[in-house]
Amino acid sequence: MQETKDLNVSATEPDWSREAVRQFWDPGQKLMRAIRRYQRAKSRGGVLGKLSAKRWALSHLFWSTVTQSEIHLNTQIEGGLRLTHPTGIIIHPDCIIGPNCMIFHQVTLAGAVTLGGHVDIGAGAKLLGPLKVGDHARIGANAVVTRDVEAGQTVVGIPARPIS
Ligand SMILES: CC(C)(COP(=O)(O)OP(=O)(O)OC[C@H]1O[C@@H](n2cnc3c(N)ncnc32)[C@H](O)[C@@H]1OP(=O)(O)O)[C@@H](O)C(=O)NCCC(=O)NCCS
Repeated sequence: MQETKDLNVSATEPDWSREAVRQFWDPGQKLMRAIRRYQRAKSRGGVLGKLSAKRWALSHLFWSTVTQSEIHLNTQIEGGLRLTHPTGIIIHPDCIIGPNCMIFHQVTLAGAVTLGGHVDIGAGAKLLGPLKVGDHARIGANAVVTRDVEAGQTVVGIPARPIS
């Protein structure tokens, strides 16, 4: 997670380029695009909004199946979420995700997990809410997080503990 040491990544200002679809086969970005467009269509309302929401719900179903991931259409996710190697990512609908986070494969956010800005979560980590993770925190691969993580902290292991 080289990027995680880069404090130039903002914890408050969404960097939408992180979600930009760059090629036809871009499952993570396409899954996120479906969620963004669905939420936009829903908030627009009206007949066109409803039709558009249905179209993007279908797209969401397709990319969720491709990635074997469950990210609910109404989950509150700030801009700039990067799904690197998007497979097996499970995010409970009660989760709130701050700007510019990064989630690797096989990550589970169970229950009401609140991520701050620029939180990076390594492959296979499980976060068992309710809990909060502060800005710029890093969660190690395969960690099981059972309590709050402070801003800037890196936690590893089962149960997850901070490393310096
Ligand atoms: C947690 C992480 C961000 C820490 O990186 P770092 O700051 O460079 O830390 P270091 O590699 O110097 O390790 C510090 C200590 O934590 C331990 N550690 C690091 N990651 C660990 C992990 N996931 N689980 C258990 N211990 C871990 C190291 O063994 C080391 O212990 P030591 O001090 O007793 O030798 C990183 O190890 C990590 O897990 N990244 C996830 C990467 C990932 O999922 N990549 C997927 C690519 S496909």
